[in-house]
Amino acid sequence: MTARIIDGNALSARVRGEIAERAAALTARGVQPCLAVILVGGDPASAVYVRNKVAGCEKAGIRSLRFDYPQDASQQEVMARLAELNADPSVHGILVQLPLPAHLDETAVLEAIDIRKDVDGFHAENVGLLSQNREGFVPCTPNGVMKMLETAEVPVQGAEAVVIGRSNIVGKPMAMLLTNAGATVTVCHSKTRDLAFHTRRADIVVAAIGKPRFVTGDMIKPGATVIDVGINRLDSGPDAGKLCGDVDFASAVEVAGAITPVPGGVGPMTITMLLENTVVSAERAARDAGK
Ligand code: GUN
Repeated sequence: MTARIIDGNALSARVRGEIAERAAALTARGVQPCLAVILVGGDPASAVYVRNKVAGCEKAGIRSLRFDYPQDASQQEVMARLAELNADPSVHGILVQLPLPAHLDETAVLEAIDIRKDVDGFHAENVGLLSQNREGFVPCTPNGVMKMLETAEVPVQGAEAVVIGRSNIVGKPMAMLLTNAGATVTVCHSKTRDLAFHTRRADIVVAAIGKPRFVTGDMIKPGATVIDVGINRLDSGPDAGKLCGDVDFASAVEVAGAITPVPGGVGPMTITMLLENTVVSAERAARDAGK
């Protein structure tokens, strides 16, 4: 039996349509949602992500501001820009694309963003709010995964979930969201002794380790849901140049009950949730301004 495919492109298109309607309603009330994006340096992958984020805004009727800094930009320059954007009431979301060049203090930069505009959900206060299951901003990729599970009607409450990866951007917030939703969560990572022991008992596996085709079908419980967060470009072998996930799709699709493809799975949902967070921020600002 082959797994049901959870189609991130289709879900993303539907959710982006709803976001565009909310953005239009806000604009009609005089509050056009606005996202400011800061890119430091010339990392090619970051440049592609930023371009896609700005294009996503435009399609949804969200205004975007883009600030590009050279690789040797100073901490002061970036901090000054953040202070200006924090103070600007027409800006609802602020995103600093990561990774930053090594000479910049990433923690200080992320902590300088007003938590009400922190649409990436990386500020320590938003991380704390998520851990307490309180209202704030949730990081976009794990938030998108939760939306995919919900839409695909995958039961989360009481499920055994295994998250592979412990990053601040995906693994840790993913574990908190699944915990908040009532799953029993195990976080595995590169130092885990027997990964397959854990994954084979899981009803839900979320792979976010950045290793191409690392999770194979023999590591999956029959009927489990497999969510692949990885985006890797293969640089050798017969598929050189192609994108693939952290899951070996060909073997996993034969065992899983439901699975996300790469590309066309989690990837498009990340930007979708960023757009949603920006609209949510603008809705909160409009409410606070009595509009
Ligand atoms: N780098 C990789 N993923 C992300 C993300 O979701 N947000 C930002 N700002 N940078 C990233």
